[in-house]
Amino acid sequence: MDVVIAPADEIGEIVADDIAALIADRPDAVLGLATGSSPLRIYDAVARRVADGRLSLAHARGFMLDEYVGLPVGHPCRYSTVIDQDFVSRVDLAPDAVRGPDGDAADLGAACDAYEQAIREAGGVDLQILGIGTDGHIAFNEPGSSLASRTRVKTLTEQTRHDNARFFGDDVDAVPHHCLTQGLGTIMDARRIVLVATGTSKAEAVSHLVEGAVSARWPATVLQHHRRVTVFVDEDAAAQLELVDYYRHVRAHRHLVS
Ligand code: F6R
Repeated sequence: MDVVIAPADEIGEIVADDIAALIADRPDAVLGLATGSSPLRIYDAVARRVADGRLSLAHARGFMLDEYVGLPVGHPCRYSTVIDQDFVSRVDLAPDAVRGPDGDAADLGAACDAYEQAIREAGGVDLQILGIGTDGHIAFNEPGSSLASRTRVKTLTEQTRHDNARFFGDDVDAVPHHCLTQGLGTIMDARRIVLVATGTSKAEAVSHLVEGAVSARWPATVLQHHRRVTVFVDEDAAAQLELVDYYRHVRAHRHLVS
């Protein structure tokens, strides 16, 4: 696991560089797209590159991490609407190139299975972008999630519902109780993972993620078992890391071959 401590804007540019390098190598690469605040600077940096002609995502594909249950297509808080606003509509992805689990399906179990199959048929995710919840979730794998889980229905913690009420006009009652989410096992299948965390509210979860014991109590810790993960944090999110000086030292003396 690599840990990079950098200002949020710089994180956006570094990850956009990685995406550009991936697309140069493989124009039809599969991106794993998180929603929420954490990836916004990445999406801004990618959109700038597409706008000025440095990058094209015309052949790329994308899979979202999760979706609320019960929000119909077009609902402003449905994650498919949000990813469209925050990213898809700002780049040159083909129509329907980005898919998400259907949280409004009549048969949610079948929708989860179909989603797993769609990811498999696309050849898997090349680069997965993640945020982290204050309770340590990735996607919506709340504490107690099986480390081997696949896409399924989950019940959101009250902490997550309160954290996300800001997207629902600060009305926590409007935040659904349930979601469909890629499982931890699904996420672990991605060939490369970048996780972005900024702000003091993420510091405790980040310290568990990077330096804690692997446990379903802090689901993001499963990433310690992935071979290609980079955790990008700003100073605030890095505040509870014990080995912060070492992470800075590693970056200052980066091995060019690694
Ligand atoms: C969103 C997702 C969540 C968020 C996490 C952090 O698709 O899967 O895990 O990444 O809740 O949210 P923000 O970035 O809004 O703090």
